[in-house]
Amino acid sequence: MRTSVQGMSVFTIQPNTAAISDAERSQILAQPGFGAYFTDHMALAQWSTDQVWHGHRIAATAPLQLHPSAAVLHYGQEIFEGMKAYRHDEGSVWLFRPEKNAARFAKSAVRLGMPALPEDVFLDSVFSLVDLDRAWVPENSGEQNLYLRPFMIASEPLIGVRAATQYTYCVLATPAGAYYSAPMRLWITPNYSRASVGGTGEAKCGGNYAASLAAADEAAEQGCGQVLWLDGAEHRWIEECGTMNICFITADGELITPALRGTILDGVTRDSVLQLAGDHALQAVERPIDVDELRTRVTDGSITEVLACGTAAVVTPITGFKAPDGSELTVADGEVGPKTSAIRRHLLDIQYGRAADTRGWMHRVGA
Ligand code: COI
Repeated sequence: MRTSVQGMSVFTIQPNTAAISDAERSQILAQPGFGAYFTDHMALAQWSTDQVWHGHRIAATAPLQLHPSAAVLHYGQEIFEGMKAYRHDEGSVWLFRPEKNAARFAKSAVRLGMPALPEDVFLDSVFSLVDLDRAWVPENSGEQNLYLRPFMIASEPLIGVRAATQYTYCVLATPAGAYYSAPMRLWITPNYSRASVGGTGEAKCGGNYAASLAAADEAAEQGCGQVLWLDGAEHRWIEECGTMNICFITADGELITPALRGTILDGVTRDSVLQLAGDHALQAVERPIDVDELRTRVTDGSITEVLACGTAAVVTPITGFKAPDGSELTVADGEVGPKTSAIRRHLLDIQYGRAADTRGWMHRVGA
């Protein structure tokens, strides 16, 4: 994969003539929050049936103009990605496994009846945008990064129900700190499912997240940080948790995660954690795991640690579960486990250039 776009991007640059001052940007980067501020530029491209992909440009970050009948506003034809740019100690800027996001974006598009953006154009857009706005990538302190949000919407004015014939692709960049700052417990919801076989569960589409919000509110009412999703058919098999995939570490050295079956997001961090498991004396196992096994094995102590993982969340320790019958399950002693800490540290060290990138995951942006 190429790591520099100089001189070969299909995105023409229309510089923002009212860019934020250095002083204001420094103030923002000191405390970026998550998704609260946006860089000076965004990447854009359009698709229509007659012109296919066209209008590739990087321009000032500004509101999009949409007719109120745009299909996305009515039928939710929307997909997105989440990825991060990291600054290493000596100042260079890097992306983590961006080709995985490009491939998943194309796959999500097909599921939502949208045109697939060529993967090289996706990569061009993110490398070009980060290169141009590289001053917005925070210094390597804590877990700060430049979070990227590529997305595509159906922009055709359309009230009839069919796949639209016009789409807008856009990439936003927002400086970010940690998404979750503490370990959490999960609420095993009796009321909701995230996905079912044949649905959109493995696509990264806005509709999946819209449908998750009531359950997330329910989890918060129960004093939990997120929801644990069970399958839609039997409400028994563990799938993932709100905004993250989930992994269970066992006393006999396994790192178990629910197998992908079309209903679970094929997370880039999930895949990375599975690949790192061996470095931490754990055998990665992808298989179905149900809530009865979780209950039994947390209770008898043979599940020793639980972690959730995602781009925004990195690796978030799960310290317990709360079930609708009022019962509570505490994982081990309710503290963050050593393997979880070590995997989290290892992943962050690779991303921030402090550990060897033996798998070729990091890709440098620009010179
Ligand atoms: C990500 O992890 O990047 C997501 O898209 C999920 C959301 C919590 C920000």
